[in-house]
Amino acid sequence: MEKLVQKEHDFSAKLRQKSVIENLKEYILWERARRDSHRKEAFPLRGPISINLDLTSACNFRCPHCVDSGIINTGEALDLDTIRQSIDTLTEKGLLSVILIGGGEPTVHTDFEEIVRYCRGNGLQVGIVTNGSRLERVEEVADLLQEGDWLRLSIDAAREETFFKSHLPGKNVTLKKILSDARQIKQSNPKISLGYSYVIVWEGIFMNGKELCPNIDEIHEAVELAGEYAFDYVSFKPCLLRLDGSKKESLFSKPDAERENSIIQKIRDNLTKAKENAQVAILESVNLHAMMDRNVHELKRQPVVCHSQFFRTVLAPSGVFHCPAYRGVPKGRIANSDGYKNNEMFNKTHGALEQSIRDFDASQECNVVVCFYHHVNWWIEHFISSGKSVDELETVEDNNFFL
Ligand SMILES: C[S@@+](CC[C@H](N)C(=O)[O-])C[C@H]1O[C@@H](n2cnc3c(N)ncnc32)[C@H](O)[C@@H]1O
Repeated sequence: MEKLVQKEHDFSAKLRQKSVIENLKEYILWERARRDSHRKEAFPLRGPISINLDLTSACNFRCPHCVDSGIINTGEALDLDTIRQSIDTLTEKGLLSVILIGGGEPTVHTDFEEIVRYCRGNGLQVGIVTNGSRLERVEEVADLLQEGDWLRLSIDAAREETFFKSHLPGKNVTLKKILSDARQIKQSNPKISLGYSYVIVWEGIFMNGKELCPNIDEIHEAVELAGEYAFDYVSFKPCLLRLDGSKKESLFSKPDAERENSIIQKIRDNLTKAKENAQVAILESVNLHAMMDRNVHELKRQPVVCHSQFFRTVLAPSGVFHCPAYRGVPKGRIANSDGYKNNEMFNKTHGALEQSIRDFDASQECNVVVCFYHHVNWWIEHFISSGKSVDELETVEDNNFFL
């Protein structure tokens, strides 16, 4: 059986893992039948394999680049009962992994530790995305995390001054303290995969009328720091914008080839320098690759049907969304935040998801979104139209269920 090695972003392999492949097969068969007006097939009664779980909209940082700035600090949070009941319902329906993220900052939720315990107790893989200001709360549950679970810190800088300008954190929060706390967690439980996340900001990006603090020059220093503080990897991604009007995530506000070329060259040079003596893995996001290869337009060309929504959704205080890029966007909302609370609510939400798969035209709606799921959506699309038997899909060993 094929192994899933270093294929974090190879979603088509992830969907062929032993515990997941039946979901994929049923989905493909249903989708084929749906396109054939002579056949009727019931929508597969399977929940998502993976969810983004936004615990709260509250955040204790004020990052000027925050792609979610329009939906944070609304006073909304998911309550513990809703979370527990939703986890129970979804686990019964096949959920295998949870990413605690935001919206806001997961570690400011009153019940953060209990939620991690609950997810792990249900046998789910757990990923945590945090600004790192409350790592003592992660430390509290670090021993529960297993091989495959991960902690990713949104650092985006290598120098204190840039860190401060990029996050506007509260008093007494320093980059050095965050890095030291992270190393302590890694040393207490080496099974946790520890990530240093770096949103690359270049000159001339404005968000909410303010220019963001560029950080390209610090890329190699960040890689050195990551090695020093026992991180496993640094993951680089480009700064996304939410285009006014559409509210959807995108890259570069106005096309300007000369400016883009010089930014890309600068990023390339700094990444090359960083790779020279790197002691940690360097990951580059799908959209960073596309940006550097000058084919971002390709990631904006989606098939009509977004297939990924069948396998991964977002549960947030403001509702259930069919895609992380549509957090807080009415077009992506398929239910209230209690949409997975029990079987009855799940069935209703699942019905709305079926409708979304039928009605949401990703080729139009997502033509400005630099989509992470572009490749897997096209891969499924081509498989559906190939007419090949689903039995030809090759199974991959179980490993990583994060989507
Ligand atoms: C909005 S944050 C919320 C979770 C947590 N508070 C944190 O700081 O990681 C979730 C992720 O979005 C990323 N992010 C925020 N603004 C972004 C942007 N403009 N472009 C790309 N990623 C962004 C952050 O780096 C972080 O990894």
